[in-house]
Amino acid sequence: MAQPPRTGAVVLAAGGGTRLKSDLPKVLHPAAGRPLLAHVLAALAPLELVGVVVVASTRRAEIEDAMAAEGLSDGVAYTVQDPPRGTADALRVGLDAVAGACDEVVVVPGDAPLLEASTLARLVALRRASGAAGAMLTASVHEPAGYGRVVRGDGDLVERVVEDRDATPQQRRIHEVNGGVYTFDVARVAPLLAKVDRDNAQGEYYLTDVVALLRGQDERVVALETHADEIAGVNDRAQLAFVSGLMRHRVCERWMAEGVSIVDPRTTYIDTTVVIERDATIHPFTFLEGSTSVAAGAEVGPQARVVDSEIAEGATVSFALVRSSRVGPEASVGPFASLRPGTVLERGSRIGTFVESKNATLGEDSKANHLAYLGDASIGRGVNVGAGTITCNWDGRAKHATVIDDDAYIGSDTMLVAPVRVGRRAATGAGSVVRDDVPDDALAVGVPARVIENAGNRMERTGADDENPRQ
Ligand code: UD1
Ligand code: CA
Repeated sequence: MAQPPRTGAVVLAAGGGTRLKSDLPKVLHPAAGRPLLAHVLAALAPLELVGVVVVASTRRAEIEDAMAAEGLSDGVAYTVQDPPRGTADALRVGLDAVAGACDEVVVVPGDAPLLEASTLARLVALRRASGAAGAMLTASVHEPAGYGRVVRGDGDLVERVVEDRDATPQQRRIHEVNGGVYTFDVARVAPLLAKVDRDNAQGEYYLTDVVALLRGQDERVVALETHADEIAGVNDRAQLAFVSGLMRHRVCERWMAEGVSIVDPRTTYIDTTVVIERDATIHPFTFLEGSTSVAAGAEVGPQARVVDSEIAEGATVSFALVRSSRVGPEASVGPFASLRPGTVLERGSRIGTFVESKNATLGEDSKANHLAYLGDASIGRGVNVGAGTITCNWDGRAKHATVIDDDAYIGSDTMLVAPVRVGRRAATGAGSVVRDDVPDDALAVGVPARVIENAGNRMERTGADDENPRQ
């Protein structure tokens, strides 16, 4: 039996991206939390490829680093096209880099992030089965402006592709457009790349001209028609927003199919990198970003933004910002809370209204229900942090830690001047400014706080109502 062809891929990502008017390379603009190019490389990953070559601009190092940060460096090599003289020139540069290593090449643009692996596999299979020199992905779109139009001839054969700017008014009325995705038999197509000229409206070497050149040699290019959304490319910021919207919709559909309740997908923004367990509920106007995970039974939103954080089973987060933090099982956050990086909420703990935390741990069943700042704080279990409490962690020169031990009670408006420790079952009086450690069971009152030994545990804690501890 004949060996299957060795297939490589070339990603065209060297274009100037001038229409975006940006200092950032086009392919690094994000959609649903990932650079455009990362989506494309992720779509290529499941194919059986001998390698992927990204044709990058002179910003290659930046592009390569960004992909490595996305965990997409395995089997991906980079080459530079300078200057960017058009897509045919870009493919030539790409093929030079894989010289001899493959018989068949999959060509994808770096700016079409909705491409799916299954479609690419179908395109490969179609060309192989047809024996054609090339196969291309097309779609019938409502608004074809900007895309190359597919001109079909006798027997529906693709005769050529005409770029928007070179098209006659009649050709502009064609709704079938070129997706910019191809598979080619390298031996038959590589020699033609040298024959492409730049005699067109943009003065560029168009890869699309290869179609007509192949026809001129009586070779065929077969077409696979796919859904219009899938080939959507990003040339300007409006298209970036459009593509992001399609991707967002796709992500929500996927999680709903997995058993996640998304109350209003139209106002829910979930990055492709987020993981959600079944029976979690995502309420409207919610943003789940980066490496965030949401466990079963958790409720996030309305109005929450969660970045690189873990929301455990049964936790709730509403009207809040949570960054690089962990919200433990059955813990609750909000409304109007800001969890800055390094916040850890243990099981059943609560961060309430107008509370900000940073690098702080709140132990099991501990609560800071209203108006507090908890920074560089290690808080044990069963602690009640009264309204208005501030950990004064910054002395103008350095940050210092506050430790509050299990079952302590911090009275309203306490200033904890760090470094400071409040012992187990100790208490602070309302408005106290605590500069020295408070021993276990002691009470600290006044400004600066005076320590009264063994008076701390005067409050009988039933846990029934932390807002009204009995005196
Ligand atoms: C291209 C196609 C068009 C198709 C559309 C689909 C050509 C001539 N036209 O048009 O038929 O409908 O894609 O989205 O191919 N690039 C390089 N080097 C270059 C120029 C471009 O690497 O010198 C890269 C770009 O970074 C981009 C891709 O190739 O990722 C496509 O180039 P772009 O300028 O976006 O082409 P379109 O005008 O969209
Ligand atoms: Ca494009």
